Amino acid sequence: MDQYKGKAIVIGQGYVGLPVAVSAAEAGWNVVGIDLDTSKVEMINNYVSPVEDISDEQIRKLSEAGSYRASSDYTDAEGFDVAVISVPTPLRETKPDLSYIELSGAALAPYIRKNSTVILESTTYPGTTEELLAPILEEKSGLKAGIDFYLGYSPERIDPGNPKYGLKETPKVVSGMNKESLQKVKDFFDGFIIETVPTSGTREAELAKLLENTFRHVNIALINELAQFAGQLNINIWEAIDAASSKPFGFMKFTPGPGVGGHCLPIDPSYLSWQVQTALGMPFRFVDLANDINNHMPDYVVQRVTDILNDESLSVKGANILLAGISYKPNTGDTREAPALRIINLLQARGAQISGADPFVSEKNWPSGVMRVEYSAKSIDDADLVLLINQHDGFDLDLLSNSSTRVFDTRNVVPDSSGVDRL
Ligand SMILES: NC(=O)c1ccc[n+]([C@@H]2O[C@H](COP(=O)([O-])OP(=O)(O)OC[C@H]3O[C@@H](n4cnc5c(N)ncnc54)[C@H](O)[C@@H]3O)[C@@H](O)[C@H]2O)c1
Repeated sequence: MDQYKGKAIVIGQGYVGLPVAVSAAEAGWNVVGIDLDTSKVEMINNYVSPVEDISDEQIRKLSEAGSYRASSDYTDAEGFDVAVISVPTPLRETKPDLSYIELSGAALAPYIRKNSTVILESTTYPGTTEELLAPILEEKSGLKAGIDFYLGYSPERIDPGNPKYGLKETPKVVSGMNKESLQKVKDFFDGFIIETVPTSGTREAELAKLLENTFRHVNIALINELAQFAGQLNINIWEAIDAASSKPFGFMKFTPGPGVGGHCLPIDPSYLSWQVQTALGMPFRFVDLANDINNHMPDYVVQRVTDILNDESLSVKGANILLAGISYKPNTGDTREAPALRIINLLQARGAQISGADPFVSEKNWPSGVMRVEYSAKSIDDADLVLLINQHDGFDLDLLSNSSTRVFDTRNVVPDSSGVDRL
């Protein structure tokens, strides 16, 4: 472990906050991870990691060395040097819900001292750090942001389950409300991230994060819509994508899927369109269109499943349908906004019996009315149709192509065979 750097607080010990807390502790900070979820805090303090990217062993080692612990008590923020806020920023009835930032900011403020640094990491629309968070911190601390204490924004790019690009390897955008704040934010992350990328102000950094996710959301929507047309035109979209991807410039590969999920893509672009609509009175048409297409992919999947069963003289009603993968992407148990949940609802409403194989999804997040099964030759053979939602490591995809059960593959990963249909 590196030389002692000071006391850091990381508020929110989820997919974003826990990796930051652990990395900072490994880099020499004495870290307290604050989270209001007492069961999560207890888990962490019993050395059980709630996220895939951090191992139990990492937590144990740091805890035993006295450099990291979790707490639900904000008084543990006493005497902090740097605080990172990584709390949820969901939508509530299509509007940004910044209540978590407001509440955590108000709870942190009494512990801000002269020369403390506060960094917002949650994804949010431009202006949040300086227009919403700064006044809350100033009011409760009696100190002036940018003068008495430093304030900045640094969006998170973590891609849970990505074996190549973890927190350390992914360049991190950093910003501050003035030069001094930027330097403090940069120094903090330079301690455990290979490359930091400064912007001149916090709004540019806030917009950069929304731009990244809106870009991805829009391009996925483009390919999702094209996949539906290509299917009707009897053209193999996957081959067309691979062929187009051979162009070494001016093309970026995106692939279709059953819909978008997770905390980012289904939500972040709407933060931007809400701001554009509210501040400028204009619709952000690309975002509206992308939302419409991506939100309806589960309906398209269900239509294709219905057609496949129909070809076999079967109906959805009474059919045994096995979902391989429930979470929103491979090798994570994250079911937030997962398209599988909507697909399950639609199929159940039509009378299907649903079973699911997903070793990553916890009991707590398991969808109701879905029988949990192992991914195996038996569970595949027992089904009338297998719907592959995502390809977790450990799913032997040959079992699907070798089975006599019909398969609908939404990811183009199952080896060819006569019983396999693709999106
Ligand atoms: N998950 C990702 O892949 C990802 C990637 C980049 C950015 N983000 C953004 O990072 C932010 C956090 O996302 P996440 O995925 O880590 O969420 P998460 O739900 O996994 O974790 C957030 C944690 O904050 C805690 N919390 C809520 N209110 C609190 C409060 N007032 N005080 C202390 N703790 C509180 C919750 O109990 C929860 O454990 C969001 O803005 C999200 O958009 C997420």
